[in-house]
Amino acid sequence: MASSEAAPAPAASAATHKGCTKDCCANDAPGCSMSETNSFKAADTVIDLAPTMKEKPNPSNLVFGTVFTDHMLTIEWTCSGGWQKPHIRPFQNLSLHPASSSLHYAVELFEGLKAYRGPDNNIRLFRPLLNMERMLKSAQRACLPSFEKEELLECIRKLVEIDKEWVPYSDSDSLYVRPTFIGTEPSLGVKKPSKALLYVILCPVGPYFSTGSFNPVSLWADPTYIRAWKGGTGDCKMGGNYGASLYAQYEAMERGCQQVLWLYGEDHQITEVGTMNLFLYWINENGEEELATPPLDGVILPGVTRQSIIELCQKWGEFKVSERYLTMADLLTALREERVKEMFGSGTACVVCPVGRILYQEENLHIPTMDNGPKLATRILKQLTDIQYGRVPSDWTNMV
Ligand SMILES: Cc1ncc(COP(=O)(O)O)c(C=O)c1O
Repeated sequence: MASSEAAPAPAASAATHKGCTKDCCANDAPGCSMSETNSFKAADTVIDLAPTMKEKPNPSNLVFGTVFTDHMLTIEWTCSGGWQKPHIRPFQNLSLHPASSSLHYAVELFEGLKAYRGPDNNIRLFRPLLNMERMLKSAQRACLPSFEKEELLECIRKLVEIDKEWVPYSDSDSLYVRPTFIGTEPSLGVKKPSKALLYVILCPVGPYFSTGSFNPVSLWADPTYIRAWKGGTGDCKMGGNYGASLYAQYEAMERGCQQVLWLYGEDHQITEVGTMNLFLYWINENGEEELATPPLDGVILPGVTRQSIIELCQKWGEFKVSERYLTMADLLTALREERVKEMFGSGTACVVCPVGRILYQEENLHIPTMDNGPKLATRILKQLTDIQYGRVPSDWTNMV
């Protein structure tokens, strides 16, 4: 029997799904049929085109995530029937049972990547298989079913191809791709969902820095609120992580800062910035020039941009590149000794985002990122956007 909310039993106990005859269900094997490699196939995709197309806005004037394209992808899963055929259909509202597990227990996850139109008019996705891998990892942690990442990528490619006119004709705008995976279990009780829906929606987006030049962000660093903890879900892209971070974000704004610098542990380890990974470019304690970012120890989201910056800078071989712990005490000492060169966030939205100020223990710390160019952040931004928009050839892009 599934656990009730009043007397919760271990969520994974005997979660036999009604009507499901699979051994995995009866035995409640870890992951149920969810861990099988059976998957939907992109070749089975059913396509229903929208009868009319919407007018396309100028992406430069858009508020992020407010305008959606003409089509969406939906793929349903049930424990008894497995994956259904992928379906590309007109963009529309979902119809959900009010007990759906995504609504009650945040059995939900998402991804974020972008499609870019190059000067050659080709459309590219940037390292999309890394997003598919992260999505599978999140799905496993959320007790949602598995699928073949190449098949989902091919479905996304088809969707973007159908809505290709929505990929802006611009060297700074792009089309944001939002894969989403929700538990649609139509009954209450904390248990593995017997039904799920994977869907993908698309939004045209303008440049992160609207003036075209870097605007540094100010951060509120306070250990009162914690984004993620060891053994938690901070290394997965689950919706619950983000909903739970809002309160701190608004407190940061009340204190005159734009985003939260998430700290962790007694020693106030620096982990992430808002919804970005964090990099510190400095002269370290041993006098070495170093680009440092916190290690993937379970509290850090493994960002695609983070990985790309690490690999890019390792390839340059010009300074040490480290995945290492950084504490507020390390930063304070380095600021006092003028060893900090640049600090920046990284993510799909902005690529890199310079940090200019940190409010910590009632003190405003000036971070000299902009005083130093920022040379490194600017160079990384140029290299990565040149790859994303296909201005330089790279095996980091997949053609649509
Ligand atoms: C918490 C968090 N950290 C880091 C990132 C950056 O990841 P990526 O570079 O894959 O966009 C994101 C955005 O997805 C995020 O939500």
